[in-house]
Amino acid sequence: MSYETITVKPIAGALGAEIGGVDLREPLSNQQAAEVHQAFLDHCAIYVRDQDLGPEDIMRYARYFAEPSDYPFVEGIPGYPQIFELRKEPEMADNVGGAWHSDTTYLDKPPVGTMLYAREVPAYGGDTMVANQYLAYEALSDGMKRMLDGLVGVYSAGMRRDGGRSGRAENKYMKMKGTEEAEKYIAEHPVVRTHPGTGRKALYVNNRHTIRFKGWTDEESRPLIDWLQVHCTRPEFTARIRWEKGTITIWDNRCCQHFAINDYTGQRRVLWRLPVGAELPV
Ligand code: SIN
Repeated sequence: MSYETITVKPIAGALGAEIGGVDLREPLSNQQAAEVHQAFLDHCAIYVRDQDLGPEDIMRYARYFAEPSDYPFVEGIPGYPQIFELRKEPEMADNVGGAWHSDTTYLDKPPVGTMLYAREVPAYGGDTMVANQYLAYEALSDGMKRMLDGLVGVYSAGMRRDGGRSGRAENKYMKMKGTEEAEKYIAEHPVVRTHPGTGRKALYVNNRHTIRFKGWTDEESRPLIDWLQVHCTRPEFTARIRWEKGTITIWDNRCCQHFAINDYTGQRRVLWRLPVGAELPV
């Protein structure tokens, strides 16, 4: 696709692009908004650099993709319940999102996208990896595709697929809510979903939240979930988003997994995070 009002620079062979030519402190023109949305569909994860944004600007940008939605377990910043702060201070060991996953797949209608805005970044490290789940599906054999096409996954917020507690990193800087109710968040979705915007099929399994396949035991499910997780995140399906202060990113949870790399202990990293949209996977 050719773009007339924005620039779109791919950052890897699999997915990811840097968008230029927009100032997100102002509303986008209709054509810019349409082209940014098209770039999101074409590249699965897009970012814009050097943006000096407040919460209103972020909410306005999010609405070019879908209506902002809620994250069930962390309180938002004052006045903006849907935006919460991801903060890792120098003395903290754990980060949030330090395992491959797609966001909140245990909701009946998981978010279409996740938007993150970098307010403070480490001098090095703290990148986020993304992985293209269309490519992961397309690389499977016809036999595996046939089996997965009919499968339904069971996704849980409370338990990992190995039976342990889900690794939701709680820290004193993030005001948690509802974590005692995590067990109640359980959903069933197709293991192969069709993206409504592109018509392409994508794998929708992650070993953080997918606990079994419907009609299978946990023991039967685990080896396949584990194999799929390794397959889904093969290096040639991935890209790395390198944060700078003022970078704003959105990835498409319908066709991406992501992984926040925890390699910056001793440094601070502060991002605002906003789930965007809510859609039934089909
Ligand atoms: C997440 O939402 O999983 C965290 C992403 C990040 O901090 O890069």
